[in-house]
Amino acid sequence: MSGPDRPLRIGLIGTGNIGRTHLTALASLAHAGLVNVRVTALCDIDKEALESAAQLFDVRRTYTDYQDLVSSDDVDVVYVCTPTNRHSDMVKAAARAGKAVFCEKPLAHSCPQARDMLAVTQDRGVHAGVGLVLRYDQLLVYARDLIQNNDFGEPLLVHIRDDQRFPIDYLYYSKWRGEKAIAGGGTLLEHSIHDVDLLLWFFGNIENVYARVGFRSEREVEDIASVSLRHTSGLLSTLDSVWHWVERPNERLLEMFFERGYIAIHLESGDRFLEYQLQGSTPVRVGVRQADDALMRQLNLDRSSLSQEAMDAITRVGPERYAALNYAFLRSISRNEGPSPSFADAIAAHRVVDAAYESANLNRPVDLL
Ligand SMILES: NC(=O)c1ccc[n+]([C@@H]2O[C@H](COP(=O)([O-])OP(=O)(O)OC[C@H]3O[C@@H](n4cnc5c(N)ncnc54)[C@H](O)[C@@H]3O)[C@@H](O)[C@H]2O)c1
Repeated sequence: MSGPDRPLRIGLIGTGNIGRTHLTALASLAHAGLVNVRVTALCDIDKEALESAAQLFDVRRTYTDYQDLVSSDDVDVVYVCTPTNRHSDMVKAAARAGKAVFCEKPLAHSCPQARDMLAVTQDRGVHAGVGLVLRYDQLLVYARDLIQNNDFGEPLLVHIRDDQRFPIDYLYYSKWRGEKAIAGGGTLLEHSIHDVDLLLWFFGNIENVYARVGFRSEREVEDIASVSLRHTSGLLSTLDSVWHWVERPNERLLEMFFERGYIAIHLESGDRFLEYQLQGSTPVRVGVRQADDALMRQLNLDRSSLSQEAMDAITRVGPERYAALNYAFLRSISRNEGPSPSFADAIAAHRVVDAAYESANLNRPVDLL
């Protein structure tokens, strides 16, 4: 990506769950010739995780102190994939060293902290991208195209239901997600900030928030959140987010009602699909493979000129959205364009999440004007 001669050199901090997901995505993209990058350094305080990732992804330099990775001459771009309380220091250090930075969501515990991070990246003039990965889900990209290209009319009501098997004990088995001082919040901040970003991306500004949260697991962070939102357009949306203990795959269900149409999306597990209906027409079901072209268009990739391996790397390898997100981020660096999603996008979502927590604390709606 940095020209034919020299690959863009990536240093990644945090070789846990999402760090390895990015390493897998980067390896697939590079192997398929879609990006010219090399992961040159890894950092983790857990030496076992560090060494096993270094071996698995064939990375020679390893560090246990992120400052060493950030200041390495061998690193152009820093990926921050550590638990949330570490993001701010690491992002700022990378920006101050003049490195482009990719930070996992949530950027921080609160909007003011996230703004602080943005200010440092702006001050240093470095690229700053964020892991709000739903923006590269082909079904969601397809849905946005559908809305833009058809006569759905004004949006009336949107509902997102997001459930995840309790990530502290099961899927990710990460104790830190139960500690407020590390995670900052529970299912709303840690997981459903993705949904808030999605609502903003699809439907624009939110001006009023009313939220309730629950703590059924008796952890420090909420495991239930029900949020009612009013957008500037007048649209009403609701977000219900839960961490539960049932042995079922994670799911996100979206329903969107418009004046003249309806869209439902089964986003996460099994047979992922979208269904829509326009007034006067019969329902149409769109499978995930039918939506690949929409993602290709969003990435400005010409399917006919891509090898099967490249196509698979973008749309099918592992947790597919991450490859597309990485591709877009790295390309924004090579083209010197603003990344999408950016820190500013993340801050917009943080602002809504902060307001939701405030509303839950005060037990009343909170304005965001
Ligand atoms: N975008 C997404 O869809 C998505 C998905 C999962 C996680 N995340 C986010 O990614 C971040 C990490 O989550 P995870 O699930 O990978 O957690 P994890 O616990 O699996 O991995 C975190 C890693 O960071 C390491 N670490 C902790 N402190 C460190 C330090 N000071 N220096 C270097 N390494 C350190 C840990 O040892 C661990 O290996 C969180 O902010 C989380 O919210 C985003």
